[in-house]
Amino acid sequence: MNIIVTGGAGFIGSNFIYYMLKKHPADRIICVDKLTYAGNLETLEGAMEKKNFKFIRADIADRKMVYSIFEREKPDIVVNFAAESHVDRSIDNPEIFLQTNVIGTSVLLDACRKYGIDRYHQVSTDEVYGDLPLNRPDLFFTEDTNLKTSSPYSASKAGADLLVMAYHRTYNLPTTISRCSNNYGPYHFPEKLIPLMIINALSDKKLPVYGDGKNVRDWLYVEDHCRAIDLILQKGRVGEVYNVGGHNERANIEVVKTILKELGKSEDLIEYVSDRKGHDRRYAIDPAKIQQELGWQPETKFEDGIHKTIQWYLEHRDWWMGIISGDYQSYYERMYDSRAILEYAKI
Ligand code: NAD
Ligand code: TYD
Repeated sequence: MNIIVTGGAGFIGSNFIYYMLKKHPADRIICVDKLTYAGNLETLEGAMEKKNFKFIRADIADRKMVYSIFEREKPDIVVNFAAESHVDRSIDNPEIFLQTNVIGTSVLLDACRKYGIDRYHQVSTDEVYGDLPLNRPDLFFTEDTNLKTSSPYSASKAGADLLVMAYHRTYNLPTTISRCSNNYGPYHFPEKLIPLMIINALSDKKLPVYGDGKNVRDWLYVEDHCRAIDLILQKGRVGEVYNVGGHNERANIEVVKTILKELGKSEDLIEYVSDRKGHDRRYAIDPAKIQQELGWQPETKFEDGIHKTIQWYLEHRDWWMGIISGDYQSYYERMYDSRAILEYAKI
């Protein structure tokens, strides 16, 4: 099989490439990535030496380039991870989110139609369902939950999902979509909650918690997500959506305190800052469909996954030091210097 993996120099895409190279050594993986601020070739160093791996720097929204890649590489499968993925950046400047997440997806879909494909898989997010109230722990997102987005990021991902479904219905393109909850693990870019808190704690910097810290996310260890996508590629029904998540709900403040405890740092480092605009309260996935149809179960408990993740960041300082000394640093200063610091009662 020739498999194009877009966005493979980012967090989940790179983990997926390593997972696939190990699990399916006979397949050929072609990574297509624009190398934005979030893409890092160093992350793929371990794949570069493999004969069945190839890296191509390209923008998925560049139609001419994408068509020439399809013509040359003749992919059987396309897995689209490429995206602008950070909610705060989308609030700051939505346009690039539409360009990559919507237009980029449409170009890939057109290429699949033009050159033929066995499967196009769209890596989507539970954020397309909006949020759930904190006082209704009985509610979960199912595949039938209405799309009701809150941020420009989630709106752009929902737009892409709708296009994928339209291409299946109208052109009979063999598509699948997975909507996953928050991932964590190795190679997670340090603008997102878990790696940011680990790195700030290690540097004895303040840990900026938005609002009251009670927002809930459903955390999934990245390898469990990779295994779910692999299963969907093998056994998933075309035209279907599969929710992926593992009943690992945690309030942000609990996650932050867990990290501080593991690192032996004081909770005095926590700083409550002004809330994210439109901040989703709670995400929680009902994974019954993928469990029943494909036999998928998450294997890593949050307590084990967060421990492994913290160890990884301790052992890979060079990886994240390189990132925080670059472009990301000026983003961090701009975003967080402008956030008012709030005095919330310590929870
Ligand atoms: P990431 O930001 O770490 O990586 C995104 C990658 O896409 C980077 O390597 C970047 O260079 C590349 N990219 C960006 N624009 C591109 C373009 N125009 N053309 C080609 N490449 C481009 O993101 P991630 O956290 O690994 O997320 C991957 C996918 O999974 C995204 O589609 C995201 O919406 C989805 N997702 C993420 C999570 C999560 O918790 N991180 C959860 C559910 C779904
Ligand atoms: P994030 O990792 O950006 O993922 P998402 O917004 O896609 O869920 O944020 C996870 C949660 O952590 C979210 O509720 C916002 C919150 N958060 C903070 O409190 N402080 C931070 O510095 C960041 C980046 C996020």
